[in-house]
Amino acid sequence: MTARMPPQVTLLLVGAGFAALGATYWHFYWKKEVCNANWINFNKTGLKHDLKKKLFGQHIAAKVILKAVTGFMESKNPKKPLVLSLHGWTGTGKNFVSQIIAENIYKKGMTSSFVHLFTATSHFPHESHINEYKTQLHKWIRGNVSICPRSMFIFDEMDKMHPELINSIKPYLDFYNNLDGVSYRQSIFIFLSNAGGESIVQVALHFWELGRDRREIQLKDIEMALSLSVFNNKNSGLWHTSLIDKNLVDYFVPFLPLEYRHVIHCGLAEMARKGHFPNKNVVVRMARDLNYFLKGYMRIFSMQGCKIISSRLDFYI
Ligand SMILES: Nc1ncnc2c1ncn2[C@@H]1O[C@H](COP(=O)(O)OP(=O)(O)OP(=O)(O)O)[C@@H](O)[C@H]1O
Ligand SMILES: *[C@@H]1O[C@H](CO)[C@@H](O)[C@H](O)[C@H]1NC(C)=O
Ligand SMILES: *[C@@H]1O[C@H](CO)[C@@H](O)[C@H](O)[C@H]1NC(C)=O
Ligand SMILES: [Mg+2]
Repeated sequence: MTARMPPQVTLLLVGAGFAALGATYWHFYWKKEVCNANWINFNKTGLKHDLKKKLFGQHIAAKVILKAVTGFMESKNPKKPLVLSLHGWTGTGKNFVSQIIAENIYKKGMTSSFVHLFTATSHFPHESHINEYKTQLHKWIRGNVSICPRSMFIFDEMDKMHPELINSIKPYLDFYNNLDGVSYRQSIFIFLSNAGGESIVQVALHFWELGRDRREIQLKDIEMALSLSVFNNKNSGLWHTSLIDKNLVDYFVPFLPLEYRHVIHCGLAEMARKGHFPNKNVVVRMARDLNYFLKGYMRIFSMQGCKIISSRLDFYI
């Protein structure tokens, strides 16, 4: 007599087989990121919430970014891609804001295959390879936008990018209907740099000296200083090119230097992110040991913004 499995076991095995198949199906058809509304869906409430609750001390940037991104994402037929240029001192939240934007457009945020981050010193380090980089960058931008028109390109350390390389991405930023069959009008380009950082600090310092609230600083107060120091400075990469002259950048977004109290906010948020209960005593000890621009004995602006907090906190917890 041949050994036979009891019918319950057979059923169980068949069931398990179907479950495995189902899981595979689920994985390939639902987990794989596709360029459609399941994966790319702008959340205006989310963006507003994050800019208000997670980003500290940047009232101008928060306002400009919300307006710019919302206007662009809600437009049925944008005339050109959205081009933002974020400027400011180190550690003030430029990468952080790019991440917030990505998270409120792409379900996978910065890890989305439709979000591309290029860092000048690591992607394009050698001046002698500039032609190679140009070809590569053209291919990447074109290839990715053909796959998904709603792509996002972030260029970090824009002030360290070779002017020729910046010049070569200019056509993508313009009003062209399409460029060899590909339309770039749904894409988002974000440039990050420290260019103009000092003059933004000067404006903030001036307000501080006059005893005025930093929230009174308006975009126009900064634009004036920026245009004097950066736009006229032919040595700073970005401005060599005609990005400005041709009005290809839709918004220049200044990031203000962060004060001691913002560092405290950052510290508390970081403790929570690390899974600790936010403890003010710990954060104050950490914040006091950081370096600041001083006026007499007064700490005014944090030298590194909120940048090194994540690693520093570990020593104090
Ligand atoms: N304004 C801010 N509000 C809240 N958190 C901030 C802010 N600025 C910086 N941070 C925190 O500090 C970290 C580092 O900031 P970020 O990388 O955005 O600085 P950055 O402006 O890009 O500096 P750099 O010019 O040196 O590249 C962020 O991940 C975030 O956790
Ligand atoms: C949009 O963001 C809000 C606030 O963060 C969140 O509560 C909501 O679930 C989000 N909506 C979608 C569709 O993801
Ligand atoms: C898309 O961009 C990435 C870099 O972020 C690159 O590695 C990839 O080859 C590009 N895809 C295409 C189809 O060009
Ligand atoms: Mg940065």
